[in-house]
Amino acid sequence: MSKKRILTGYRPTGRLTLGHWFGNLLNMRELQDEYEAYYFVADWHALTSDWQDTHAIRQYTEEMVLDWVAAGIDPAKATIYRQSDVQEVAELTMYLSMVAPMSWLERVPSYKEQREQISEKDLGNVGFFLYPLMQAADITIVRGAVVPVGEDQIPHLELTRELVRRFNGQYGDLLVEPQAIIAKQGARVPGLDGRKMSKSYGNAIYLSETEEETTKKVMSMVTDPARKLKTDPGNPDICPLHQIHKLIGDAADVAEWDRCCRVADCGCVAHKRKLAEDLNAYLSDFRERRAELAKNPGYAWEVLADGAARVRPAVSELMGDVRRAMHVDSGV
Ligand code: TRP
Repeated sequence: MSKKRILTGYRPTGRLTLGHWFGNLLNMRELQDEYEAYYFVADWHALTSDWQDTHAIRQYTEEMVLDWVAAGIDPAKATIYRQSDVQEVAELTMYLSMVAPMSWLERVPSYKEQREQISEKDLGNVGFFLYPLMQAADITIVRGAVVPVGEDQIPHLELTRELVRRFNGQYGDLLVEPQAIIAKQGARVPGLDGRKMSKSYGNAIYLSETEEETTKKVMSMVTDPARKLKTDPGNPDICPLHQIHKLIGDAADVAEWDRCCRVADCGCVAHKRKLAEDLNAYLSDFRERRAELAKNPGYAWEVLADGAARVRPAVSELMGDVRRAMHVDSGV
């Protein structure tokens, strides 16, 4: 039996963090065996909000691809491509824009929220308004996609499904309604300051940074604020050090650090040293592969070109059907 097709895209954000590792990379790695996986870099989606500063998009794309592959996403199994290399996505977005009522797009919660909350970027552009429409094109252009989504993306998937029904009602049964699967909730990884790990908070540990950088960052982490002195008992449940250690450390070791923190038998500085050591060991295979891949400067672009070539047949077939149904082909 042929495998179902799964599709997911990420905006190019550059080097990935330990938060991405537990939040989605492990999941992507698992899904590539179960499904025919299509993983793409949504560089046009990055443009919708960052159109005033596009200089880093190419570099971010390349770094993200290297991180994916070093993390075990295998270009021989998963088709890895760049959205902008499949130009028909823009064409299909335009066709979808014919059937999409403006009010549907105005109602998308992420659109309303981001317009209200983000003031440092100009999001009054049409491109940003079209964000969910372009996402619907990404999905439907590869027909029959299962899309693993986090909570925040559910309205986009709903919109896609509604659009597909409206489009098919008008032009015939051409597009497939995607099926959303709720992505297994990856672990939430705290950053150096205890808030969610995020590039924009400046509290992130990058997968590809050096051991020295990781050690320095771990030594600067916040711990239980109530534990001022080594003799004060601590609460591991609210300490980011423990939360990260639980994800990457040896279970017996972690239990022992938990115990000795609660009874003030060991200090935070010693625990930081241990966490840094364990984290560097945990990431060493990844880092070795990443460094190896980076030696070949064209590698990420070869992966993307190969991926684009692999999606092209399915895309051409679908677009042929769509153009014919809308009478924008030659008619012969
Ligand atoms: N909207 C997604 C995000 O913000 C990125 C994305 C673009 C996507 N196109 C997609 C995700 C298609 C799944 C399917 O992260």
